[in-house]
Amino acid sequence: MADSGTTGATIELVDLGKRYPGSRQPSVDGVTLRIDAGETVVLVGPSGCGKSTTLKMINRLIEPSSGSIRINGEDVTGIDPVRLRRRVGYAIQSSGLFPHMTVAQNIALVPRMVGWSASRVRARVAEMLDLVGLDPGEFRDRYPRQLSGGQQQRVGVARALAADPPVLLMDEPFGAVDPITRDHLQDELLRLQRELHKTIVFVTHDVDEAIKLGDRIAILRERSHIAQFDTPQAILAGPADDFVSGFVGEGAALRRLGLTRVRDVEVTDCPTADVGDPPQRIVERLRASGTGEVLLLDERGRPCRWLRRGDLTRAAGSPARAGTPVHRTVTGDATLRDALEAVLTDSAGRVAVTGPHGQYTGVLDTETLLHSVRGLLAADRLDAPEHRHGLEDTLARQAPAEQEVDREKGAL
Ligand SMILES: Nc1ncnc2c1ncn2[C@@H]1O[C@H](COP(=O)(O)OP(=O)(O)O)[C@@H](O)[C@H]1O
Ligand SMILES: [Mg+2]
Repeated sequence: MADSGTTGATIELVDLGKRYPGSRQPSVDGVTLRIDAGETVVLVGPSGCGKSTTLKMINRLIEPSSGSIRINGEDVTGIDPVRLRRRVGYAIQSSGLFPHMTVAQNIALVPRMVGWSASRVRARVAEMLDLVGLDPGEFRDRYPRQLSGGQQQRVGVARALAADPPVLLMDEPFGAVDPITRDHLQDELLRLQRELHKTIVFVTHDVDEAIKLGDRIAILRERSHIAQFDTPQAILAGPADDFVSGFVGEGAALRRLGLTRVRDVEVTDCPTADVGDPPQRIVERLRASGTGEVLLLDERGRPCRWLRRGDLTRAAGSPARAGTPVHRTVTGDATLRDALEAVLTDSAGRVAVTGPHGQYTGVLDTETLLHSVRGLLAADRLDAPEHRHGLEDTLARQAPAEQEVDREKGAL
């Protein structure tokens, strides 16, 4: 299993610079940064500030013009780039999969290149697919075009991790997928990282993504000058200068919701039934339900449909077709910001919370969530008045939705 494999390595960038041929100004101007083993560091900054250039110098897809890179203390600036890339996995936007190769062939690329036996490669492909939540039997022989955007990204991550490198570089890997899939992929990455403890350098222009994923965040200005390098908490509480506050400041109170995870707040339980239960049992559960709702779980215990009274009759007694499908769930790794987004866009103001394999663990409703948010705000004395105002506005806008839920409840 991969979690017995390599853990991360330290990365040091020492006065690392890049001037592209023909450019008068360097694109990266002497960046110095030390990243601890097993840490996730996010490089965030406006488009064109040199994030990708900095990242690609770490695996020497781009050769530095000056300075050096050390991995676990070894200067890798002069070593054979192919040898280097065995130690450094790389995942990019739009997955970067080769379209003419199957999923298995894509994942097997680096292990083959470094001479693993066919049987070891085969086992590793299955293990990696499993790790990123794709069934090997179903997916190994597909071509990238036969996958959704989110599935392609998962395969991209599986490929980057296949040779068990201590370092993983990710360049806006979730930039091309829809917001809900992106939230899920971020949660998955957090789960993976808890198992694997790689050193991850992650590039994004999205501050909220940086806050969610980074143990530390390096905020870059032009030519990769580091404006601030610190934990998300410290950056939100004390932006170093106007550039940083301009970058993270807008909506900072809401951003702070990105620091708290669903696992840290109390989720409630809701009545559930299994999709295979006899209709009579489901009807009984509905009758006993305080909210007039029951969450239907599939054979693997994953939320699949919300049922209200009368839904079963309308679907001629077939639970698998009754009620409304569950479109969105959140995991314990989701932020309160993700969860707020989910309940605000849900017509009934609740979202199911799921565990590692997508199985039901609880429900967050608007009321519980707002209670937690208010508690956080009350505890947060650093919160500037104008920011607090912004969040209160959001809460006020939420009130009509709450009333609607109450009306619906009353109508039952
Ligand atoms: N191959 C290249 N040749 C010349 N200039 C480049 C090249 N790649 C990037 N640049 C320039 O370097 C700067 C930083 O680019 P990049 O590292 O891609 O920024 P980011 O990833 O932050 O958007 C930009 O001004 C860009 O135009
Ligand atoms: Mg870039």
